[in-house]
Amino acid sequence: MAETIAPMEGAGRASLRAGQTDEVFRRLWASLFYSGRPVGKSVMVCAADEGEGASTIACGLALAGSTPAGSARVALVDFNLRGPTVHRLLRAPQAPGVSEILVQGLAPESAAQRVNTSLDFYAVGNPTGRLPEVLRNDKLSEFLSTLADGYDHVLVDVAAVNHYPDAQVLAGVVKDVLLVAYTDRTPREAVAQAKKRLESSGGRVVGLVLNMRTYPIPGFLYRRV
Ligand SMILES: Nc1ncnc2c1ncn2[C@@H]1O[C@H](COP(=O)(O)OP(=O)(O)OP(=O)(O)O)[C@@H](O)[C@H]1O
Ligand SMILES: [Mg+2]
Repeated sequence: MAETIAPMEGAGRASLRAGQTDEVFRRLWASLFYSGRPVGKSVMVCAADEGEGASTIACGLALAGSTPAGSARVALVDFNLRGPTVHRLLRAPQAPGVSEILVQGLAPESAAQRVNTSLDFYAVGNPTGRLPEVLRNDKLSEFLSTLADGYDHVLVDVAAVNHYPDAQVLAGVVKDVLLVAYTDRTPREAVAQAKKRLESSGGRVVGLVLNMRTYPIPGFLYRRV
């Protein structure tokens, strides 16, 4: 699956505006989960390089998938231990979250933050000084399978795979990956490298999002060529 997302006005300034989650993310959600290809309950959203839009897309997808029309129970997990931003997009606290669940044994339900009737958010928590403990934690797969049992879909945001090993660690557990690339900025080789890294760790790229795609030719003409 390959989908495109155009630049969105005002994205990320403070939070995702409701309007932004409408059309584009609903289409992406349907394309990811309901187009007949085998995709698991849990999907990691990951970019090759930094700042390409992984968190924006993970968050927009989770909001779109958890609307009444989507009628699914969704968990959104911020596993970006390097630069977490999802809590800001959702205007939610950063802790407690994944770090406390994995390192201190906090019960997942105690860290779940209710975003709407069908979306729970698991923030990154406070990973400072605990990165090795969080990443090499036996409880990681237990935590993620608890979420997969409790929700219809689980989306996991993570730091860029070509910069940090975190996405590879997670790919071995989550398996399915939605790869995000910044159109016209991410080199083809970086995307290929990201795919190779994810696959070498047991991941499977189930889709590619070309973010920030612009159309220099007007849409009605573009569709004819
Ligand atoms: N389609 C879009 N339209 C407008 N702005 C966007 C879009 N996608 C991402 N952005 C903006 O680009 C910046 C980086 O996006 P984001 O934080 O989602 O990237 P990331 O891949 O998660 O970065 P990081 O590597 O830091 O985790 C943010 O300011 C965000 O608002
Ligand atoms: Mg991010």
